[in-house]
Amino acid sequence: MNRVIVPLDVPSANEAFALVDRLGDQSDFYKVGFELYTRVGPDMVRELVNRGKRVFLDIKLHDIPNTVARAVAVASDLGAGLLTIHASGGPRMMEAAASARSGDLKLLAVTVLTSLTPDEMSAVWDREIRSVRDDVGRLALMGRDAGVDGVVASALEASWIRQQVGPGFLIVTPGIRPAGADRGDQKRVTTPGDAVRNGADYLVIGRPITQADDPAAAFSAVSREIQEAEVDV
Ligand code: C5P
Repeated sequence: MNRVIVPLDVPSANEAFALVDRLGDQSDFYKVGFELYTRVGPDMVRELVNRGKRVFLDIKLHDIPNTVARAVAVASDLGAGLLTIHASGGPRMMEAAASARSGDLKLLAVTVLTSLTPDEMSAVWDREIRSVRDDVGRLALMGRDAGVDGVVASALEASWIRQQVGPGFLIVTPGIRPAGADRGDQKRVTTPGDAVRNGADYLVIGRPITQADDPAAAFSAVSREIQEAEVDV
């Protein structure tokens, strides 16, 4: 099974499909985020699905339960495979989302945005933040209990989250850099092999593949590293 999800962090459908074509059959899972979805719309998802690709629709829904449920139903109809919602929308929002999904769609909860500092969290929640990790674990469990299928998390926290949520709950990890690769703006990174050994089910890997001179060769190298690590888990 291919565990690598390539984010289509580009501003146009043409650029997205050029990348999909370059990566070829070996790469069958793509993340569509706010930028591309806002520009191209649902046709982006439909066209990827028509080409036999799986789609992670990363639009982080957060609204009242009824509104989120309706959007989840539409994403199911589009044929998306993964969709993000914010755990901080609360248990009723997540339950409504879980009841509205159909087909192959699985829901991922975003727990605490990695861009948030403890000070910002403190200002938002009006309480002292002793451990961001505790809040990540608490929200992951809240998602699991509400019927969500998994979480997006740092691979550095994947093994700890796995201990909290048990098996069968998806852990999808960005912030992956093969040894020696440019980190870009990512501060806390993990190699593909370590992410799998830490319990990640899927790895979102962007620039180390998309900015490589030969993206298809970079994808193959990452896949080989993952297969070697799968022997250890
Ligand atoms: O190029 P790179 O591998 O850093 O891309 C990672 C992808 O994962 C981007 O689409 C980024 O928005 C997303 N992401 C992330 N960190 C998070 C959540 C999502 O890098 N905490």
